[in-house]
Amino acid sequence: MAVLTSAPRGTQDLLPDISGKWRFAEEKLLETAALYGFREIRTPVFEHTELFQRGVGDTTDVVQKEMYTFQDKGGRSVTLRPEGTAGVVRAALQHGLLGGALPLRCCYLIPCFRYEKPQAGRLREFHQFGAEVFGPSSPDADAELIAFCAALFERLGITGLSLHINSIGCPACRRRYHEALRAFLAERADRLCGTCRERMEKNPMRVLDCKSPVCQEAVTGAPVMLDYLCEECAGHFSGLRERLDMLGIAYTVDPKIVRGLDYYTKTVFEFVSGAIGAQGTVLGGGRYDGLVEELGGSPTPALGFAMGIERLVMQMESSGCAFPEDRLYDIYLAGMGGAGRREALRLCGDLRQEGVRAGCDCMDRSVKAQMKYADKTGALYAAVLGESELEAGECTLKSLRGGEARTVRLEGLADTVRTLLDENKN
Ligand code: HAM
Repeated sequence: MAVLTSAPRGTQDLLPDISGKWRFAEEKLLETAALYGFREIRTPVFEHTELFQRGVGDTTDVVQKEMYTFQDKGGRSVTLRPEGTAGVVRAALQHGLLGGALPLRCCYLIPCFRYEKPQAGRLREFHQFGAEVFGPSSPDADAELIAFCAALFERLGITGLSLHINSIGCPACRRRYHEALRAFLAERADRLCGTCRERMEKNPMRVLDCKSPVCQEAVTGAPVMLDYLCEECAGHFSGLRERLDMLGIAYTVDPKIVRGLDYYTKTVFEFVSGAIGAQGTVLGGGRYDGLVEELGGSPTPALGFAMGIERLVMQMESSGCAFPEDRLYDIYLAGMGGAGRREALRLCGDLRQEGVRAGCDCMDRSVKAQMKYADKTGALYAAVLGESELEAGECTLKSLRGGEARTVRLEGLADTVRTLLDENKN
């Protein structure tokens, strides 16, 4: 493989002709997040390895098999973040954010790294939009967070996702469940992969989440957590269901959702698509009431979610979402001769000041070649600026989309074009 001209396996270039789609999605996400009281947080791409071992859990697939971990030149072990939650909790603790007004709500748009087997919708470098809420313990917060997710999809014009919810209880009720699950797995230990045989004792729920097909087969019919919930967890879950019903948010209770990260307690949920292939989980999240304490803070209930932007954009495409047109230029000015070319350059500056996307030649092309290029870029309008135009103080504004040509004054051209574009928008 040509190392110099091929990106590493599992990574993707975001090329200029589709980056506009991403930007559109990202802006809508941040804009909607603001309506729900979320502000952006940015944390480092790499953290101390221990943060993820403790936070995400050292029996998870993510920590055991998928982390990009290396020693830096100072001999410290650091890891490219495989997800966003642990870093946000670390930052909140480091900067004392949890001592301020609660709930604290923050969101992020980040690249994440997992050494997974690449396939459609599963990458080694991927991107997440995520949101975290610290403070509330009531199911009101779970319902509001899920309503926020539904609003994000709605505002992006996405259809065809279904919401699956489950409760995986708290450490107290999980103890009883672990016993039952361990007994079930012990009978099938010879059918489990090596990693699962090892983690069966320490954290049997991780076996349910193993990606190996042999393990997935062996765990059919395993006991489900919902049957083991303590009174408080059961009450929280029914409280959430009532609120979702009240908000008119459709869902399926899916006892199979355990999530692949260790920090979850009580509510877990996923938004799943049937339209983008085997990796259909567009969004996953839940409550993690023990994580802040696990990382050294005072006990603080918390919850959040993250969605994969790659999968989100795939789903937007399959839903036929109306992406805005991301054209290179509104207007292209083809300069003829030295004076014409200079005037094109000057006028482009004026046009850009008015917020008009404007372009002119910097390749020494003939007027004919410039007009051909303007057409290729998908510009709405083009005009030739030569000696006669400069003398007359006006030019012919040609519509490249089949509209009528019109004569316009060069003086005030930027204003004229701005008005024209605004009129066409309405
Ligand atoms: P997660 O389920 O591991 O949760 O990831 C969330 C989303 O990221 C997935 O639903 C998927 O869309 C996307 N994703 C994950 N791995 C890949 C991959 N290899 N390639 C492409 N997309 C991927 C978390 O990361 C939690 N931190 C979410 C959360 C926040 N829970 C509470 N707060």
